[in-house]
Amino acid sequence: MHRKVIAPSVLAASLLLVIPASAASSVPGAPGIGDSYYPTSGNGGYDVSHYDLRLKYEPKTDLLEGTATLLATATQELSRFNLDFGLKVSEIRVNGAKAKFATSGAHELEVTPTQALEKGKQASVVVKYAGKPSEFKVDGWSAWQRTPDGGVAAQEPDSAVWWFPSNDHPLDKATFDISVNVPDGTQAISNGVLQSQTSKLGWTRYNWRSNKPQATYLATLAVGKFDITTGTTASGLPILNAYSKDLGDNAGAARASVERTGEVAEWLESVFGPYPFNALGGYVPNVPSGFALETQSRPFYSPRQFANGANVSVVVHELAHQWYGDSVSVDNWKDIWINEGFARYSQWLWSEKEGEGTAQELADWTYRTRPADDPFWQVKPGDPGADNQFHGAVYDRGAIAIQALRNEIGDEKFFKILKGWPTEHAYGNAKVGDFVRYAEKVSGKPLAQLFETWLYTPGKPAFAPPSSQSP
Ligand code: ARG
Ligand code: ZN
Repeated sequence: MHRKVIAPSVLAASLLLVIPASAASSVPGAPGIGDSYYPTSGNGGYDVSHYDLRLKYEPKTDLLEGTATLLATATQELSRFNLDFGLKVSEIRVNGAKAKFATSGAHELEVTPTQALEKGKQASVVVKYAGKPSEFKVDGWSAWQRTPDGGVAAQEPDSAVWWFPSNDHPLDKATFDISVNVPDGTQAISNGVLQSQTSKLGWTRYNWRSNKPQATYLATLAVGKFDITTGTTASGLPILNAYSKDLGDNAGAARASVERTGEVAEWLESVFGPYPFNALGGYVPNVPSGFALETQSRPFYSPRQFANGANVSVVVHELAHQWYGDSVSVDNWKDIWINEGFARYSQWLWSEKEGEGTAQELADWTYRTRPADDPFWQVKPGDPGADNQFHGAVYDRGAIAIQALRNEIGDEKFFKILKGWPTEHAYGNAKVGDFVRYAEKVSGKPLAQLFETWLYTPGKPAFAPPSSQSP
């Protein structure tokens, strides 16, 4: 490292003598990982490989308390690093020793270990905390949803800061052990396999394991009173579904949909290749919100998804995300189309298979029912902006883009890509541009213009039906 000499050379030389070389390169980690939409999401300077969460939750008071242990490898000499978290921390230890910490901004924790972390070495970070997740607000809002019998953490792009400290960005995926103690008679639902469940002193502890890389927003926790159903897939993976005992009139439709998880996953495997995780399922808590989310291996479904009867389509959408979104994750939140465009398109493929309209018919209908002056056409699916991250255009125009690709390259190449992409990028991260290059490679066709038109150009593009369907 070069230093500007602003003092006589003798003084400069003596300064260099008293500053060890390692101190010069030991700088604090950045407070963000470099996301273009969310500059404080994630952090710089380290990579987490594993989270161990040992928690206790009391539904009556909404008090969540416990210990998070992170195994993290410094990617630079690190004198200080940030964690993303919103609840109150009482102690942090790094490699066994108490560390200094301070809050900064809405949900940043600055941790200063007694000794700088060495580049390339794994460190343990133990965080003890307690708080009421519903009372922690960002811009007046909490992602934690309280229910009459518990609470739920499921939100995108952020939910982790409401319940565990993390490097909160899909670029840093890790395995998770999530152990939650709740009052007897109440369940704690999370990701992956339920390893065991034990009761003592009036409390039941649920131990969950998710053993493949998982983004922090895809970690989930639902506490409440649930009916549990279990099963096994054709390939031997455990299925566990959970339905709030309080779903009212939606109870039947919720079960009639989510119980088809194994069947839908089996069909998706025929389109996308092997299912990437160690378990399957879904859960339906009695939350007021209306959305669904692809929480890893066990999606979250609002009861409102089932207000008109069974909705297998939403199950298809959230399970499709297990490949497109969860196994292959965005590099940057602006890449959201590689999640939502494909999850929507999968719903159209399911409809095609069920004889309820082909993907081409649905793309054409979606296209025709939006007039050219609809503001819908002004959102660019390939870079919608943070405010429009989940705009209908990312899903629907994004899925028409995929149909346009299919029409351009033909079914054989198209389905080769649909299966090849999640296989080649399994457990990784990717950008929209990576997909475009991959599709060009497999199809042998230049596709830059097609994607430029459909993903990056405001306005309603021309959408020609495939030649066989031309009038
Ligand atoms: N990825 C989710 C889905 O595809 C979207 C969640 C958006 N968040 C929300 N609060 N609506 O269904
Ligand atoms: Zn989605």
